[in-house]
Amino acid sequence: MDLDHEAARRRTFAIISHPDAGKTTITEKLLLYSGAIHMAGSVRARKASRHAVSDWMQMEQERGISITSSVLQFDYHGAALNLLDTPGHADFSEDTYRTLAAVDSSVMLIDHTKGVESRTQKLFEVCRMRQLPIITFMNKLDRPGRDPLDLIDELSTILNLQVVPLNWPLGMGRDFKGVVDVFTREVHLFAGGRHGQDRVETRVISFEEARAELGDHLCDEVEEQLDLLDVAGDGWSIEGFLKGDISPVFWGSAMTNFGVEPLLDFLAEHAAHPATRAALTEKDERIIVAPEEEAFSAFVFKIQANMNPRHRDRVAFLRVVSGRFERGMDAVLGRTGRNLRLAKPHSFMAQERSIVEEAWPGDIVGLYDPGNLRIGDTLATGRTLRFEGIPRFAPEFFMRAVLKDPLRRKHLDSGLEQLAHEGVIQLFHRPDVGYQDAWLGAVGRLQFEVLQQRLLNEYNVKCVLEPLPYTVCRWIGGKPEALDWLKARRDYTVVHDRVERPVLLSESPWPLNYALKQQPGLVLHDVEPL
Ligand code: G4P
Repeated sequence: MDLDHEAARRRTFAIISHPDAGKTTITEKLLLYSGAIHMAGSVRARKASRHAVSDWMQMEQERGISITSSVLQFDYHGAALNLLDTPGHADFSEDTYRTLAAVDSSVMLIDHTKGVESRTQKLFEVCRMRQLPIITFMNKLDRPGRDPLDLIDELSTILNLQVVPLNWPLGMGRDFKGVVDVFTREVHLFAGGRHGQDRVETRVISFEEARAELGDHLCDEVEEQLDLLDVAGDGWSIEGFLKGDISPVFWGSAMTNFGVEPLLDFLAEHAAHPATRAALTEKDERIIVAPEEEAFSAFVFKIQANMNPRHRDRVAFLRVVSGRFERGMDAVLGRTGRNLRLAKPHSFMAQERSIVEEAWPGDIVGLYDPGNLRIGDTLATGRTLRFEGIPRFAPEFFMRAVLKDPLRRKHLDSGLEQLAHEGVIQLFHRPDVGYQDAWLGAVGRLQFEVLQQRLLNEYNVKCVLEPLPYTVCRWIGGKPEALDWLKARRDYTVVHDRVERPVLLSESPWPLNYALKQQPGLVLHDVEPL
């Protein structure tokens, strides 16, 4: 059947990395090797204008859709790969976290000259929370870097992850000769020199041939390293990978195209198929929805609005969970029970967007939306469903909005509400003050600039944002007495989120540690509890 076949060949994934590890480069090379583009260069050109927020906004204005939200779809060896791009700027990391809720696997890209960096670690933790299978790619082997055994050790200790190299580097930097397949001991030779605009065919020879060609010294060293790895006893299994327990490691150099093909082969062959997802029915019963189910269902993981007031389009990104999506079909919006017509769907390929007629589980569809949809919304045919879990992460910056013209209060309030639904900011209020004068929270500072700009363009509201001193925010759980204890103390600030859950705000982590010590029944969550 079409549905089974189409669902089974989908591989929906994202690349997580610290800035400059080579995400743009490897994205481009994956497209090159899959045949989706013929010459590298186009993805890189986009990146040039992606560093500063002003450029980011300008891009939004010019193109009507953010480059940060593009989804690259390409076929390779019979598999349909959906690569969800994530924003390059750390201030939009919340977008990245949400995107990770819409993928089935991720590629963790590491610069082997640096090892595990802060952003990689944070993004890794988000993948872990979702039990996503993670493929590791050690990049920039054409440069001298860290000892490979040390890197493997660092990955397993810092990330507390079982890592199993599927290939292993022969030298590095100027002496980088290629990689050896850990199982077959075939050696893939690095051609070097080229700057990787076109595909490069890799020469594959046996380990014995490599000995003759590359010399005993290097081959002995590599054999020793491989023996040491075996001694560590890290067994490889696809099941372990798919459960998120084991990460396979590949080595290469995205810039020179080397090592991209084995990664792509692995993605096409072994990366996770579209997963089942838990949902609540109209009667609040928990069910599991499988991709092969006939009835269509999907959830919104991202909303991207245009900054240009002349084309006020807003695109909601849907991840298809089950069934077949068809242009113009009707679906029930789980939050309201209302029927919506899913007109104007788009798919995205690099810089282009094109109308889609149909989509399958694992695919991402962009829908023009006049404001009906919110992050986390579910759409399903013939039934009212609500999928669980687009998590919200604890904001690290807080502001108050002060109006220039007090008569525009209503507009400000409705703008803030709408933008909070789109995930631009999070709203908190103080129980004694009520909904007026909400406090705004964001994971990155630039989100506030986006907020200000959009309030002005779309709601004609000019406001000044006044910083609040808080930097730590935790959802309060555990025993009710602990919450009472916090509320009774004047030195703690307890506010409520949009669904009246109590949240603790603090200027530093210390008072939190003190509270946890004093109140053993207290639980503090840095991700919104479901
Ligand atoms: P990002 O999206 O993760 O931020 O990284 P990006 O691909 O932009 O790569 C960051 C820098 O690292 C770029 O250099 C890129 O050329 C380089 N790079 C990526 N992969 C490799 C690799 O395999 N080997 C080496 N040696 N370098 C690599 P740049 O100087 O910032 O830009 P450019 O002048 O090369 O365009």
